[in-house]
Amino acid sequence: MSKIIHAVIPVAGFGTRMLPLSKSVPKELLPLGNRPAIHYVVEEAVKAGIKHIVLVGHAQKSAIENYFDVNAELDTQLRTKGKNELADSLNWLPEDVHVSMIRQGKPLGLGHAVLAARPIVGENDFVVMLPDVVLDPFTTNMQSDNLAYMIQQFEAVHHSQILVDEVSDDDVHKYGIAQLKSDDDLQKVQSQSNLNFSVAGFIEKPSKEVAPSNLAVVGRYVFANEIFDHLAKTKASVGGEIQLTDAIDALINTKGVNVTTMKGASYDAGDMSTYMQAFIYFAQQQLND
Ligand code: G1P
Repeated sequence: MSKIIHAVIPVAGFGTRMLPLSKSVPKELLPLGNRPAIHYVVEEAVKAGIKHIVLVGHAQKSAIENYFDVNAELDTQLRTKGKNELADSLNWLPEDVHVSMIRQGKPLGLGHAVLAARPIVGENDFVVMLPDVVLDPFTTNMQSDNLAYMIQQFEAVHHSQILVDEVSDDDVHKYGIAQLKSDDDLQKVQSQSNLNFSVAGFIEKPSKEVAPSNLAVVGRYVFANEIFDHLAKTKASVGGEIQLTDAIDALINTKGVNVTTMKGASYDAGDMSTYMQAFIYFAQQQLND
């Protein structure tokens, strides 16, 4: 089995919950403190050892690709003015990390977006990162926690890995929710983080009355390549969309799937009120620095 080097980041959504900010600027480029939100997500991937970032987008999202490219004209102008340090800070992506963009074509859901990355990912196992979710970079060690930990677990036990965190009963309807194999697992979760165990399944956005637990999918996944075969067969379900959660359930029937409980805090940068709270937190951390 080869090392995991691909991270698929779906960026094709219109960001309707972020209007009017997202009307002409992709929501992924809106700031959290002094950097665009997606900067932290890509930094997290790089620290976890990812070498190829695969953005799945559409025509109006090319500004994201530009953000990760060298702007040669700006670079030259800054260096001519002696601002070498500033120029260097813009070219922070390591040379061995590549960013590609592929189009989703039609807005048929998260599962469909992930499947669109198949021509680039090929036969490899890979990571999926949802860019609305930004993990706290100030208090977690990105080289060992969460995504880095999940990759290490995948490479050790060959089970796909899904990051989960506890949410309140009133919030379960916003997430994919894990169905646990035993109540003991839930008790363990309450006392430890980056705990890893296999699960029975997931339900996408259940009502609180039928939710099997309050462990929600946070937006970081490590997948065995077989998930592509399941996605190719997955029919539209909740919200009329091809759901990644349904393909995960199909994967569970053929291969093991584990959850990893999240360490530290995560911020939802895709919804106006939580985005504003996240902005204040990131700005405060950076002003105190
Ligand atoms: C997606 C997934 C869901 C997950 C959530 C995390 O939903 O379908 O399982 O819990 O991301 O943010 P979305 O927020 O795209 O509706």
